[in-house]
Amino acid sequence: MEIRGAWKSNTGFLLAAIGSAVGLGNIWRFPYVAYENGGGAFLIPYFIALITAGIPILMLELALGQKKRASAPMAFSKIDSKWEWLGWWSVSFVMFGIVLYYIVVIGWCADYMFFSIFKSWGSDTNDFFFNKFLCKSGGVWEFGGLNYPIVFAVFVIWFCNWLITYKGIEKGIEKASKLMMPQLFLITVVIIVWAVSLDGAEEGISVYMKPDFAKLRNIKVWIDAYGQIFFSLSLGFGIMIAYASYLPRKTNILKNSLIIGFANSFYEVFAGFGVFSVLGYMALKQGKPIEEVVTSGIGLAFVAYPEAISLLPWGQLFGVLFFFLLVIAGISSSISIIEAFSSAILDKFGIPRRKVITTVCIIGFFGSLLFCTHAGLFWLDIVDHFLNHFGLVTVGILEAIVIGWLYKTHRLKNHIVDNLGLSGNRHRVFKYIILQLWMYCIKFITPVALGLALIYSLIEEFKTPYSGYPVSGIVVLGIGWLLITHLFAFGLSGLPWKKEIIREK
Ligand code: PHE
Repeated sequence: MEIRGAWKSNTGFLLAAIGSAVGLGNIWRFPYVAYENGGGAFLIPYFIALITAGIPILMLELALGQKKRASAPMAFSKIDSKWEWLGWWSVSFVMFGIVLYYIVVIGWCADYMFFSIFKSWGSDTNDFFFNKFLCKSGGVWEFGGLNYPIVFAVFVIWFCNWLITYKGIEKGIEKASKLMMPQLFLITVVIIVWAVSLDGAEEGISVYMKPDFAKLRNIKVWIDAYGQIFFSLSLGFGIMIAYASYLPRKTNILKNSLIIGFANSFYEVFAGFGVFSVLGYMALKQGKPIEEVVTSGIGLAFVAYPEAISLLPWGQLFGVLFFFLLVIAGISSSISIIEAFSSAILDKFGIPRRKVITTVCIIGFFGSLLFCTHAGLFWLDIVDHFLNHFGLVTVGILEAIVIGWLYKTHRLKNHIVDNLGLSGNRHRVFKYIILQLWMYCIKFITPVALGLALIYSLIEEFKTPYSGYPVSGIVVLGIGWLLITHLFAFGLSGLPWKKEIIREK
């Protein structure tokens, strides 16, 4: 049996965990979600969601992983073997769902980094992206063969992921995070300073932050806030459990959770200033209202931004920096997914790490090819929608229930208190109150808030099938993906453990 890895320093762990949280979602998802849901006013539900669900679940995952020194399936199994499947489900839907297409999108960013140098998209960035680059087919089931420039980029990105995770925690993930994260912060600052100094930036920022308090009466706004926090903090995937399992016994979980939670939110709120400044500049140049140029996600990065890059002085440099930023933000997240799944396999079957990582990356690369056909965009869209709207939130609710009611939160609370470190005595009362509130969140507020979000999403789904896709596509890809990963999780939890599980209290 190999010895479990360990972080060399707490800073290394923090950088890796923030690296996992800060990803494509922070740069292209948050600004649009905020804009759509009341601008500056959205910050209220957003921070309430961070405090009542984001940080509590983050603390739960970190404390669980660190206390049990185990990845998600083993940690849950140590609580009660009936719940081992929950751990497997969280790590398998992220491994056989999210990371497969997440890496394809990082691959697109890598391709666009090179396109930026020559502004290869020409004057019609929309036509270039959908027709020339993705060669988008007529529907979900029209595959039309593989798209080789994308396959090549995807191969390179998988290779980078393999190279990092193969070397283990300290020499691989920690070292890579120490290299990538400072670059990520530096480039972000350069881009934001550059963006806010453009003409029209002020107008863009005021559209982004203009508060519309009336929107707060709409339940969808609150649900979007909880959804954004969950995805953005990489919760419900077993990632934070795995990362925390490599921490030493004496670690201040409360402090670490607050640092990770606030650093991630701080990053995304500020990234929005950069994103909207550029949109403001573009609107001014094209003489259009800003409302007409804002889009989210894929449309923002691959259609709107290239257009802005073509207009900007020194646009090529801006383009290379922007897409490089997306590539490193993406890789620091994808390695955490690979680690979450691989550490679960390592814990259960005791196979040598290098073998597991190599096999997982090879399977992952072939899995990603499903999203590299001419129908790839449709697949990506459907799978992403279902996993994020239903899978993630379900795991979050179950985690809160298993820990809050079955295992009893006070055991984890005592563990957190025991390890607060020397400074633990200083603000005793304050910390006591925070931890007491934490227990209430896990038992009541988090499951109720997430439960409402889930019910609301289900009702919406039945009212209008997602994005008007054919029902066959939604059933096979969306629901099928959720069910298959579920069955897979049950299968894995039925297999015997290589080493004996000790159920501690
Ligand atoms: N938190 C990442 C982001 O904001 C997304 C992510 C999802 C990372 C799943 C890891 C796992 O983009």
